[in-house]
Amino acid sequence: MRQARDVIREECEVLKMTDKQIKEIMCRLHNDLKKGLSRADHDKATVKCWITYIQDLPNGKERGKFLALDLGGTNFRVLIINLGENHFDMQSKIYAIPKHIMTGTGIALFDHIAECLANFMKEHGVYEERLALGFTFSFPLKQLGLTKGVLQRWTKGFSCSGVVGEDVVQGLKDAIARRGDVQIDICAILNDTTGTLMSCAWKNHNCKIGLIVGTGSNACYVEKTANCELFDGEPEKEELLINTEWGAFGDDGSLDFVRTEFDREVDVTSINPGKQIQEKMISGMYLGELVRLALVKFTRMGLLFGGQGSDLLFEGGSFYTKYVSEIESDKPGDFTSCMEVLEELGLSHASDADMAAVRYVCECVSRRAAHLVSAGIATLLNKMNEPRVTVGIDGSVYRFHPHFHTLMCEKIAQLVRPGLQFDLMLSEDGSGRGAALVAAVACREAEQGS
Ligand code: BGC
Repeated sequence: MRQARDVIREECEVLKMTDKQIKEIMCRLHNDLKKGLSRADHDKATVKCWITYIQDLPNGKERGKFLALDLGGTNFRVLIINLGENHFDMQSKIYAIPKHIMTGTGIALFDHIAECLANFMKEHGVYEERLALGFTFSFPLKQLGLTKGVLQRWTKGFSCSGVVGEDVVQGLKDAIARRGDVQIDICAILNDTTGTLMSCAWKNHNCKIGLIVGTGSNACYVEKTANCELFDGEPEKEELLINTEWGAFGDDGSLDFVRTEFDREVDVTSINPGKQIQEKMISGMYLGELVRLALVKFTRMGLLFGGQGSDLLFEGGSFYTKYVSEIESDKPGDFTSCMEVLEELGLSHASDADMAAVRYVCECVSRRAAHLVSAGIATLLNKMNEPRVTVGIDGSVYRFHPHFHTLMCEKIAQLVRPGLQFDLMLSEDGSGRGAALVAAVACREAEQGS
């Protein structure tokens, strides 16, 4: 009789992508990026390639005191940042966004943000000052300028009413005006990928791609203005930053050939079925759930835990993505973290063989995620065709998974056109510092222009 271990390995084959499949994914993504950029195809494109209206990267000479807001991951943060010569200091506070606000009205969301902002200014002694603010808003936004952006869809569990189709900057301005107590100039709205890129570019001028592998997944990159057919600003700058919103890659079925029953289940039980298909195979909001679904299947098949699950194992969302990082952080053959996780899930009856299998499932899911991200980055690198590009990266999955960086380095090296070099650089607080930098660059430009 075949051993449970072998059957599980066989079942997990669907989570592996062959080189041929990865090449096909790259080809499809490349076409989708071109569609997103093109005037004729943009409306039908799944990967929208939004123009960010950021044309100037920081030059390291930006100075001053700025506020920043960072909304779009699991946390919402307010920051105050002082940019000085070769250094910056930054203070920040994390505020919770309660579930009822995430899924309530847009007005309540913006009022909550404005309230946190005012409290933060009081606590930091700048309540009376008039400050510039950069707003990192990490959802698909059709930007109409540096301070105007229309929300296209919510992602990552948000669903506030009355915001899709509206200008988000106006929403925040109105909430600040409703309070009437603080003076804030919103100088820029940006995506977290853009913030990450800007933050890395402050020190590293080769940084031309910003990547997030966190609660969600997305990348931005520097594109030639001539290729951005929808850009209607002044074409005096040769390059533009494009927010690809690649999390939506696959929404038209183009990833179906590698999706599994686990992916389909994650999708149908999500708040946004049929949307953000690539993101649901990669990002922190979903990786743990993918693992859980596989474990449930194998338990029901009698291959794991002696066929005996637990209430928590059978409960959606109970297997956090951080568990995947913890389990894979154990040295091979050691199951200390794995045992802790399984105990938390009420599975203390797991044998060593069960734990090895759980680890194997985690590895398959995270490896596939790293390979998909790598396929995306290699597609961008090949498209940009520059001799050396640094990729600035942030997000909990990249930051905390013990092997994600190495998996990416290996895979991208294999997929990128010979001769092209790349570096993967962890961003130091991309979203926050990046927002302040974008605001600072906007002020720099405004001063130069005046
Ligand atoms: C959003 C992007 C964001 C990414 C990472 C996605 O769900 O659509 O705008 O950059 O998550 O936070």
